[in-house]
Amino acid sequence: MTNLLSLLIGYLLGSVSFSYLAGKLLKGIDIREHGSGNAGATNTLRVLGKGPGIAVLLLDMLKGVAAVWIGTWLSGSDPLFEVLAGISVIVGHNWPVFFGFRGGKGIATTIGVMATLAFLPALIAGIVAIVSIAITRYVSLGSLLFTALLPIFIWFMVDSREIFALSLLLFVFAWVKHRSNIVKLLKGQENKLGAKKQV
Ligand code: G3P
Repeated sequence: MTNLLSLLIGYLLGSVSFSYLAGKLLKGIDIREHGSGNAGATNTLRVLGKGPGIAVLLLDMLKGVAAVWIGTWLSGSDPLFEVLAGISVIVGHNWPVFFGFRGGKGIATTIGVMATLAFLPALIAGIVAIVSIAITRYVSLGSLLFTALLPIFIWFMVDSREIFALSLLLFVFAWVKHRSNIVKLLKGQENKLGAKKQV
């Protein structure tokens, strides 16, 4: 029963959309009607500025960390429920019950979940992603790379079927959520970090 409770808590925690709240509190706007239309840290940076963007990134990551910790605690370190808690918080972030099921793309929360469950693979994939963003200025490309590299690194570095399966699922979530970014990247029309104009 407490196992299932951890999933519910994870989903509700994920459903707290910090980018939406930041938009409403700081400017009285729905972030989903501005910039790329995504309720996430990158779009918060774009629409509301650096401070709110970084704050949302950290809070969204923290949601992922907290959900896994709660899953570990309530399940008595059952690997299956740790992973399910990770899925729940990302599902909540992407499809939040409090905001009409229109949430973000889940990358910051994925970072929090994976850094908690598989620190070294997440760190290496994160470094590659950051370098790619620094070179290209495409945050979405970094997000896609991060989620694609995670299963590969986890396969070689982590002895857990559950965590490997989780990384594959999160890869699918991320790439499906980034459909429009992928199309824009292929057309050379993706928004660059720091660019004013939105396409
Ligand atoms: O994590 C989201 C990022 O990869 C893309 O965000 O707002 O440019 O679609 P956005």
